[in-house]
Amino acid sequence: MSNEKKSFWSKWTKAHDIETEEEILLDHNYDGIQELDNVLPPWWVTGFIITVIISIFYYIMIFQGHYKQEDELKAEIAEFQAYKKANPELFKENYDLPALTDAESLAAGKAIYTTNCAACHVADGGGLVGPNLTDNMWKHGGGMKNVFTTISDGVPNTAMRAWKSGGGALTAVQRQQVSSFVLSLQGTTPANPKAAEGSVKWPE
Ligand code: HEC
Repeated sequence: MSNEKKSFWSKWTKAHDIETEEEILLDHNYDGIQELDNVLPPWWVTGFIITVIISIFYYIMIFQGHYKQEDELKAEIAEFQAYKKANPELFKENYDLPALTDAESLAAGKAIYTTNCAACHVADGGGLVGPNLTDNMWKHGGGMKNVFTTISDGVPNTAMRAWKSGGGALTAVQRQQVSSFVLSLQGTTPANPKAAEGSVKWPE
């Protein structure tokens, strides 16, 4: 080891020379185990002092309320809301989805319908609380876009809720599937059809 290196090393460890170790040997003896009275190594003491300084800074910032993670979160949410407001076109859900006609999607739509819609519209779409979905008269318009919109946004002040949000909400894909299934009921003959409602004819 070079002299220069040794001095740096010994400066940070303050290790006692092994040859003169007896000088710092404490005079108690625990079942043959003896102890050297080494000083705390400066590298350790420095680290300890740094943690003490950090803890003061930490105490002031965190426990005296200068910094709160919650505030940071709120600021980020506010920033996002402002961005969303400034760029509505980026966040508008696409209500112009194509009707799905493959068997798999229609089966998925039927399963969603049976679970969520049949109570009011009846399993075969004949209608009960809600209108008959098999005839070509609509209160809110027929065709994929209108049906998807009615299902997504619901009809305010009626039993028809918005299915895009709230508990048990359906994802866009699920709404696309169930809308496609509803359209597939067109022209079928339900067991107990409810009289046609609405004044919009679709399909003509
Ligand atoms: C709690 C009862 C209820 C449930 C559940 C319900 N609906 Fe409705 N739905 C209604 C009522 C009532 C209306 C008529 C609203 C009005 O008076 O405009 C309606 C209207 C509709 C319409 C518009 C019909 C038209 O003539 O324009 C569609 C489409 C529809 N529902 C589909 C669904 C689908 C799909 C589901 C399941 C995801 C569903 N509904 C679940 C009660 C319900």
